[in-house]
Amino acid sequence: MSASIATYPDREQLAAAAADLLVQQIDATLATQPRCSLVLAGGTTPVLLYRLLAQRPYRTQIAWERLWVLWGDERYVPLADPQSNAGMAVRELLDHVPIPPAQVLPMPTTYADPHAAAAAYQQQVQHVLASGSGQLDIVLLGMGADGHIASLFPDHAALALPDAVLVTAIDDAPKPPPRRITLTLPALQQAGLVLLLVAGADKAAAVQRALAGDLALPVARVQPVHGRVLWLLDAAAASAREQAGIRAEVTGIMTGGA
Ligand code: 6PG
Repeated sequence: MSASIATYPDREQLAAAAADLLVQQIDATLATQPRCSLVLAGGTTPVLLYRLLAQRPYRTQIAWERLWVLWGDERYVPLADPQSNAGMAVRELLDHVPIPPAQVLPMPTTYADPHAAAAAYQQQVQHVLASGSGQLDIVLLGMGADGHIASLFPDHAALALPDAVLVTAIDDAPKPPPRRITLTLPALQQAGLVLLLVAGADKAAAVQRALAGDLALPVARVQPVHGRVLWLLDAAAASAREQAGIRAEVTGIMTGGA
């Protein structure tokens, strides 16, 4: 897996670096096209990043009116549920920035059938792709200790869907809650830039395996057709690389492909 890796001493510096990088990447994207699509990650790792983006200086450095926000996955719960990925991003970020509400596209969780919700979201993803650059310009992803990304878990049938399926529903996620909607690998292959935000010693083994090319891990199968993947790690998540004799730069220096 060819990837760039940047390692930071702790979660706070990881979040700050991710915020700086996002501002740069959004600026660069908007320099060449009218709008930028940004896919948000769920879970806990991105919370510090979202909080930073919601405040100065970052809030004033981003052209929110030219951003279209989507999600990589969603737990199949109401927006007000504390487990909701969209609910978290709204609380921590989107309620605090001047993004037009029509440009915020959470995954629907009100359909009786999650598969119908997934089909509806696929329509929205396709519309964003068609009315933009043809790519998901910037995709944020977290990673589980098992190497899952979004709601794509190891050995799951959702990893082997046809290229035409960009969004799917699952009802047996090993990480609760079991019912989820997720972008698929074909959708993630349409990314311009994937930022993998990974922190914590519990992720270190999966980081090492993925960067060694272990395709049993869903994260290792995120290989954008025309885009690139950047791992942003804290020192704890990079610790297995040090043990393997690959010194992790703890000053945030970008290291070359692995
Ligand atoms: C989810 C997330 C999931 C998350 C990873 C990492 O809905 O649970 O989308 O893919 O990004 O499990 O979670 P943490 O950031 O909480 O470690």
